[in-house]
Amino acid sequence: MPMKNRKFSNLLVTGGAGFIGSNFIRHLFEKTDFGGRVVNYDALTYAGNPHSLDDVAARFGDRYVLVHADIRDRDAIRKAMRDFSIDAICHFAAESHVDRSIVSPGDFVETNIVGTFNLLQAAREAGDAFSRFHHVSTDEVFGSLGPDGFFSETTPYSPHSPYSASKASSDHLVRAFHDTYGLDTTISNCSNNYGPYQFPEKLIPLMILNAREGKPLPVYGAGLNVRDWLHVEDHCAAIWTVMTQAESGSTYCVGGRSELTNIDVVKRICALVDRFCGPLPGGAPRESLITHVADRLGHDLRYAIDCSKLERDFGWRQTHTADSGFEETVKWYLENTAWVDSVRSGEYRRWIETQYGNR
Ligand code: NAD
Ligand code: DAU
Repeated sequence: MPMKNRKFSNLLVTGGAGFIGSNFIRHLFEKTDFGGRVVNYDALTYAGNPHSLDDVAARFGDRYVLVHADIRDRDAIRKAMRDFSIDAICHFAAESHVDRSIVSPGDFVETNIVGTFNLLQAAREAGDAFSRFHHVSTDEVFGSLGPDGFFSETTPYSPHSPYSASKASSDHLVRAFHDTYGLDTTISNCSNNYGPYQFPEKLIPLMILNAREGKPLPVYGAGLNVRDWLHVEDHCAAIWTVMTQAESGSTYCVGGRSELTNIDVVKRICALVDRFCGPLPGGAPRESLITHVADRLGHDLRYAIDCSKLERDFGWRQTHTADSGFEETVKWYLENTAWVDSVRSGEYRRWIETQYGNR
C-alpha cells in the first residue's frame, strides 16, 4: 500500500529555474501544504531563468533560496546539502532538448548521467537525515510506439536519442542506488509537457512565437509523429503526489491521455494565434506559414502513456484538456512579452537555426 503524506523540511530542487522546475516550485508554495524551505539548485544554463520565479521570491522569500551551482560539481552539491540541512531532493536539472542532444551529446552525458550520479552520492552520504530522492524522468526512455499500445511502468527501456539514452542511464542509476544502498527513491516518467515558462525551442512555444511574428513554422517531416500532451501543472501535482505518497523504489508513469500529431498541434496553435491576433497582414491565415523541413534524426514515431497506476493508487487526474490548456498557453505567451524577450535575449538567440538551418 502506498504510504501517506511524507513531510520534508529542506527540499533541494535541482533545475528549479527551468520550465517544469519553476512551475513545480510555484505549485509547492501555492497549491500544497508544504511548509518547509525550497533550495533551488540551478546552473542557470541557456534554459534556466531565475526571473521565472520573481513572484515566488517576492512572496515566499523567507522560504525560498536560489543557489547558482552545477550538478556536475560534487563539492558544490555537498556544500549545499550541508549548508541547508537538505532532507529531500526533487531532481529536474537536465539537458532536456532532443535536437541539442543530436548535435552535442557530450553535454547530456555530463549533466544527465554524471550529474545525477553526483546527487545520488551526496544523498547517500547525508545518511539517516536524508529521507527521499525523487527523479523526474521522461517517457522517451521507452523508445517509440507503433500505431497502438501505451507505455507503462513495466515497458522495457529502449531509448533512441542521446537525450533519452542519458535519461535512461540516470533512471538505472537511481534504481541501482535504491537496490544496492537502500537509498529512498522514487521515479516518474512523463510525456510531453506544455504551459507557461517553457523555453521557446520546444514545439509549442516556438510555434506560438513564430506564428505571432509571421515567421515560418518548421514541421519535421510530414508532421505525423504523435506526442501525448500534458499541462505542466498536472505534471507538478503528479510529482508532489509521488514524492510524498509513493513507496520507496516505486516508479509512476504520468501522461495527458491527449495524443495529437505534430501537424494537428501546429494547426491548433495557428488557429488560436489568428483568433487572438487577427490574420497575417494581407489576410492569410497562419497555417500558411507551415513549412515542412528535414526530419529529426532517429525521430520517434509515437509516445503514449498509460497512467492508470497513478490514477488508481492516488486518484490523480489531469485537470486540463488540450483545448483549454493550449488556449491558456497561447494567451500566456502573447501576454508575457517581457519574459519572452528576456529568455530570447540570452545565449539562446534561436541557436537551433544555426545548427539545422531553415527553421
Ligand atoms: P529545461 O531545459 O526547461 O530546464 C532545465 C533546468 O536545468 C534549467 O534551469 C537549467 O539551467 C538546469 N540545468 C541544466 N544543466 C544543469 C547542471 N549541469 N547543473 C544544474 N542545473 C542545470 O527542462 P524541463 O523541460 O523543465 O525538464 C525538467 C526535467 O523534466 C528534465 O529532467 C527532463 O528530462 C524532464 N522531463 C521533461 C519533459 C518536458 O516535456 N519538458 C517531460 C518529461 C520529463
Ligand atoms: O516526451 C517527453 C519529452 O518531451 C521530454 O523528455 C523532453 O525533455 C521534451 O523536450 C520533449 O521532447 P520532444 O522531442 O517530444 O519535444 P519537442 O518540443 O522538441 O518536439 C515535439 C515534437 O515536435 C517532436 O516530434 C519533434 C517535433 N518538432 C519539434 C520542433 C522543435 C517539429 O516538428 N518542429 C520543431 O521545430
